[in-house]
Amino acid sequence: MASELITGIGELTTLADGEERRRDAALVIDGDRIAWIGAAASAPAADRRFDAAGGAVLPGWVDSHSHLVFAGDRSAEFEERMAGRAYSAGGIGATVTATRAASDDDLRANLRRLRAEAQRQGTTFLETKTGYGLDVETERRSAELAAEVADVVTFLGAHVVPAGIDPRAYVDLVTGPMLEAVRPWVRFIDVFCETGAFDVDQSREVLAAGRAAGLGLRVHGNQLGESGGVALAIELGAASVDHCNHLSLADIDALAGSDTVATLLPATDLSTREAFPPARELIDAGATVALASNCNPGSSYTTSMPFCVATAVLQLRLTLDEALRAATRGGARALRLSDDTGTLVVGGPADLQLLDAPSVSHLAYRPGVPLTRAVWRKGARVV
Ligand code: NIG
Repeated sequence: MASELITGIGELTTLADGEERRRDAALVIDGDRIAWIGAAASAPAADRRFDAAGGAVLPGWVDSHSHLVFAGDRSAEFEERMAGRAYSAGGIGATVTATRAASDDDLRANLRRLRAEAQRQGTTFLETKTGYGLDVETERRSAELAAEVADVVTFLGAHVVPAGIDPRAYVDLVTGPMLEAVRPWVRFIDVFCETGAFDVDQSREVLAAGRAAGLGLRVHGNQLGESGGVALAIELGAASVDHCNHLSLADIDALAGSDTVATLLPATDLSTREAFPPARELIDAGATVALASNCNPGSSYTTSMPFCVATAVLQLRLTLDEALRAATRGGARALRLSDDTGTLVVGGPADLQLLDAPSVSHLAYRPGVPLTRAVWRKGARVV
């Protein structure tokens, strides 16, 4: 692959430790890596040149939580919610019915559409989950299709207990034949630890089976109440616990003292009208925080990481730099990726984006405006 010099950068945000945003910088991509970063005046020659025309350059988003393998539409449920009905785990069943009935080609087309939509908004690394199949064959094909499109796949057979199935029998299915069927395509196991889904003991059992199968652990925890999911995630050393809307002070302290990333999903909080998580308190206590889209047809039908960053700044009271870090390096930590993922450093991945704006602050200053002008993934310009 030819090398490419990006010049004319109005502001460069590398998110490398201890580095400020810089002006008059240039950057060289060689293959799928960053080969050089420095002052524009001393930039080396490269095979190609790209003029950023004064735009801000920053790492691509690492979206560490999405549910893209699905069919169907739940806009009617959304409208009812906006008219005052509460969100509950029960709506998942409608998507399960539609997903089971969908062909592989339909599911694949939807996955590709959403991945492309995310990429156009700067997402360069994407996790997605199974969880709308909830029988062995649909979970297996969900995992296989997800692996065609996503960078990391998580097994979420324990999303809810399907209607008409005994909970004990279902946990046995998830931890036995279903886990075995999805195993070739998945890197993590996840569980929705919540009223209406799985309690703490059931969740522990699911996660223990995943760990025994060599998977990393993640938990949907404390979304609708103090479910005990956060404490369980920390107890088991999970890579992340996601949602975290309802946290006690002890939860916040425990997260701060652990390696478990608190993944916040602000688009979900808007779409479900759930209280925002105590993001400021988490960061001030020293917890590692990630921001993710949670794109799914029920609680958060958006692929837009810029929207999540803007909401985190405007509503969750993160600073711009904290939000950027959470949407890049935070996501990478939540997925246990290399330390240089989500940063722009020499030798690190050439996953980056250029904004149609002079500064990253415009991501929150101009909320809702499509600012992504170009995206490079693994060194290739994809937008
Ligand atoms: O992360 N909370 C559980 N799972 C998804 C929502 C699924 C749905 O409502 O379809 C979430 O919000």
